[in-house]
Amino acid sequence: MGAAPAPAGYTPRHISEQILAGRSAIEGERKQVTVLFCDIVASSAMAAELGPEEFHLVIDRFFRSALAEVHRYEGTINQFLGDGFMALFGAPIAHEDHAQRAALAALRIVAQEEVTVRIGINSGLVVVGTIGDDLRMDYTAFGDTTVLAARLQAAAPPGAVLISPKTAGLVDGYVQLEEMAPVQVKERTVHPLRVTGLGTRTTRIAAGDRMSPFTGRDRELGELLRMLEIVADGEGQVVGLTGDPGLGKSRLALEFRRLAEPTATVLQGHCLSYGASVAYLPLFELVRNACGIAAGDPPDLIAARIELRVKAHELDVSVAHYLGHAFGVTPADPSLAGLEPQAIRARTFDALRRLLLAEARHRPLVVLVEDLHWIDQTSEDFLAEFIGELPSAPILLLATYRVGYYPPWTSRSFTSQLPLRPLSPAASERIVASMLHHEDRGAAAAIAERGEGNPFFLEELARASRDQAKGPEGVTVPETVQQVLAARIDRLTAGQKTVVQVAAVLGREFSLDLAEEVWDGGEPLEARLQELKELEFLRERHGAADRRFVFKHALTREVAYDSMLQARRRDLHGRVGAVLEHFQAGQRFDHCELLAYHYTRSAEPTRAIPYLTAAGDRAKDRYANEEAIASYSQAVTLIEERSDSRPYDYGAICEGLGIVLERLSRFDAALGAYRKTLATACDPFQQARLHVLCSEAEEGAHRFVEAVAQCDLAEQALGPGSDPPEPRWLSSWLAVQDQRMMLLYWLNDIAGHARLIERMRPLVQAHGSAEQRASFFLGLVQLALRRDRFLITDETLEFARAASAAAQEADSPPLWWSGFTFGFTLLFHGDLDEGRVVLQESLEEGERQGDAGTQSRSLTYLMVADRIRGDVDAVRNAIDTVIERARKAALAEYEAMAIANRAWVAWRRGDEETAATDALAALDMWGRLPIRYFFDWMALWPLVAMALGSRQIDQAAEYARGMLPPPQQLLQEPVRTLVDSAVQAWDAGRPAETEEFLARAVHVAGELGYL
Ligand SMILES: Nc1ncnc2c1ncn2[C@@H]1O[C@H](COP(=O)(O)OP(=O)(O)O)[C@@H](O)[C@H]1O
Ligand SMILES: [Mg+2]
Repeated sequence: MGAAPAPAGYTPRHISEQILAGRSAIEGERKQVTVLFCDIVASSAMAAELGPEEFHLVIDRFFRSALAEVHRYEGTINQFLGDGFMALFGAPIAHEDHAQRAALAALRIVAQEEVTVRIGINSGLVVVGTIGDDLRMDYTAFGDTTVLAARLQAAAPPGAVLISPKTAGLVDGYVQLEEMAPVQVKERTVHPLRVTGLGTRTTRIAAGDRMSPFTGRDRELGELLRMLEIVADGEGQVVGLTGDPGLGKSRLALEFRRLAEPTATVLQGHCLSYGASVAYLPLFELVRNACGIAAGDPPDLIAARIELRVKAHELDVSVAHYLGHAFGVTPADPSLAGLEPQAIRARTFDALRRLLLAEARHRPLVVLVEDLHWIDQTSEDFLAEFIGELPSAPILLLATYRVGYYPPWTSRSFTSQLPLRPLSPAASERIVASMLHHEDRGAAAAIAERGEGNPFFLEELARASRDQAKGPEGVTVPETVQQVLAARIDRLTAGQKTVVQVAAVLGREFSLDLAEEVWDGGEPLEARLQELKELEFLRERHGAADRRFVFKHALTREVAYDSMLQARRRDLHGRVGAVLEHFQAGQRFDHCELLAYHYTRSAEPTRAIPYLTAAGDRAKDRYANEEAIASYSQAVTLIEERSDSRPYDYGAICEGLGIVLERLSRFDAALGAYRKTLATACDPFQQARLHVLCSEAEEGAHRFVEAVAQCDLAEQALGPGSDPPEPRWLSSWLAVQDQRMMLLYWLNDIAGHARLIERMRPLVQAHGSAEQRASFFLGLVQLALRRDRFLITDETLEFARAASAAAQEADSPPLWWSGFTFGFTLLFHGDLDEGRVVLQESLEEGERQGDAGTQSRSLTYLMVADRIRGDVDAVRNAIDTVIERARKAALAEYEAMAIANRAWVAWRRGDEETAATDALAALDMWGRLPIRYFFDWMALWPLVAMALGSRQIDQAAEYARGMLPPPQQLLQEPVRTLVDSAVQAWDAGRPAETEEFLARAVHVAGELGYL
């Protein structure tokens, strides 16, 4: 070919006008498209055979017809390449069905007979570049979208259309596919498919499909059935089912059809998205259905069937001729030759009218025309005329169409519209649940919420969540949904679209003030916002102090946002940030989270750091731990990635991050954060504090040796104190010792613990604050617990009470565990009721702080209190929660405790098998802890009782022995002596005596709440 013609020369007017009008808004957009490569096979051989002139004519004819096919489906030719061309479907203007369009165009191109071609097709993302006045469009393909299409074209056998698996997923059913040999593209193996013909599907849903259960449309269905009754009485009606794509128009029509069919004839016709240029398209389908014409019937058979039907209705045979002619199935009738086109059209209309009226003669007739917004002019004219018959014919014309299309007949009295509203949350959840394999109601509800009552979106989101095995928020907008929304956005004017995009950057909800400040378009913003409100893209939120707008659909916002180029988004985010900062300076309100959001997405993300830090601090103080982690982590990453220097507050940010991580029992991550702070810390007090924090994290992870080492480092940093000690030194030193006492408790080092207490005592007595006194009392309690082996004396209880009171006086959240320790002490002192109250408060505090450890500890001992009270049901109900929280807190000892108590529950209910399995499992878990745990009796008592019951005295004695040695909790008298005596009797070889002692022990253990 010579110089390639400019696209403006061959693109149909209606398309070029649409493109040029929206050009400014389209340029630089990201679009999902389908790329088609077409190349002529063996053109040089053909040129040699035909001679240059003939060859030129043939090629010219081919290009002309191929281009016509591309344009029929509203594709654009992007490039001519030697003996072929590349076409895009879905850009510059988005089409939700770009892949189908490409496949159908390809089928028609290979069907022409003169020239053999190969075609390759792939779908993917491109960025639209500038669009010239002549419609030439630059674009950048993402990844290998175009490379793969070109590669498939080269690999296609002559006359074949090869498509990628991605495209195949989008056209499956609409065309027939055949698997082909794999193709190598760069490093990748692709399994292409060959398009062998049209498929059976023409619409998204069809009778016989697997569908989600029909729900939430009782009212609408009832209304349609009522209309059918009126029609059956001889008064025809027109009903328009309207709504956004995916709201369920077709499905409702289908369900109605099922109910109507027993009493009425239903004829259905579809308009197609690329069918506006095909005259009579939906009407032909109506006639085909009426006459029983099948998809593959040849023209003469079609003509014969029409004639048969016409005769059956005793209509004039000319009716069949006009219809056959209009649908191009009968050869030119000489009797029509002399007529004007207008006259032919009038007679065709008349023929259609008479056929439809005849169909309604014996039973009511439902004429269902789908997707009227795509109707061709001729069909629309016919329908507008035909409804004149309805007042006196039993015909229901039911049409579906999208919001924004206005049928020409709305003014007539017998016409009405049935607008579909979004489905209710309950109905939405039903659809989502039917698609998910699991029973997670929370997930279903979250997806339902995101799907905004649109069943198509709901299905696609649920499917994506299922297939990607992700939670509702992690799922990217499925391409199918994205396409529907992108096409809807592309139907806006350029000005409206720009506003949608700017608004998408502002967020789901935004204030008019802010939008005005950021708006950089030439047109008046408010007017555009008003239009978008009318088009139902936006809603205005009333009641707020300033005027605010909200995206009606969050998904629309996401799609508009995703369609923009990164550079443009960054620019806008930066401007929003600047405007907000300006507001902030004026003390308008506190925007730190919003500022952090916008600046992180701007071209200068480091500007977000102070706001991320502030947002993190705020979240930390509110115990919104996950949010705090997100903000702090982003700040840390930004600092580490973007700059070599560390700003002065880097250490503080890392420390804050560590603290919240520790609350959630993420000990290793917390340690990592503390180490970063340590690396920047020069002040000895700061260093000491951080070593203590590290020690706590090591302790949390049950690494006690490392935890002690951190305390040593802390003391090293502090150095020896002066005499008398300087207050700041003293409080740091005491903080180190508090942590040491905790470790000595775990390590069961009673002597060391006692020595430390005596070192601390004079200092605390002389200088201690409320908080320090509280900690000291707690240290006393811990020492007593170990020394007395968890038998609580009155004195120990008093220490715990004093610790709790001092902590309340200090009002210090770090002393959460004073409450817990008090509750625990009460419990083993035998004050069950008070103990439960205190533990309950401790649980609530733990929940308020989001502290996983406190929650787990409190819940566990509430469960133990219930066991001691003998409340089997309460314990059973608590077990799952205790296990779940223990896992969250990474506290295996408490998980084991839940299992030990599950054993007790099973034993109480006579299920000895479960009791034995669980008891042994709990002992095994405790046995694998890095320290020796001390509540083995919880698992051992049921085992003793069961062994005794089956008279396995040796077993029973061994289990009983397990409850005696340190550090096991001392048993209360008289059980302790009984168990002791039993074990001694066994060792002395007196089994009968052993059995007797144990029997008495078990009996008393039941009374004391052990069993
Ligand atoms: N009321 C409903 N209950 C359950 N599923 C529905 C309902 N309405 C629609 N669907 C499903 O949602 C999808 C989209 O519906 P469809 O009727 O094709 O939408 P529209 O014709 O309005 O674009 C289909 O898969 C359909 O089965
Ligand atoms: Mg539909």
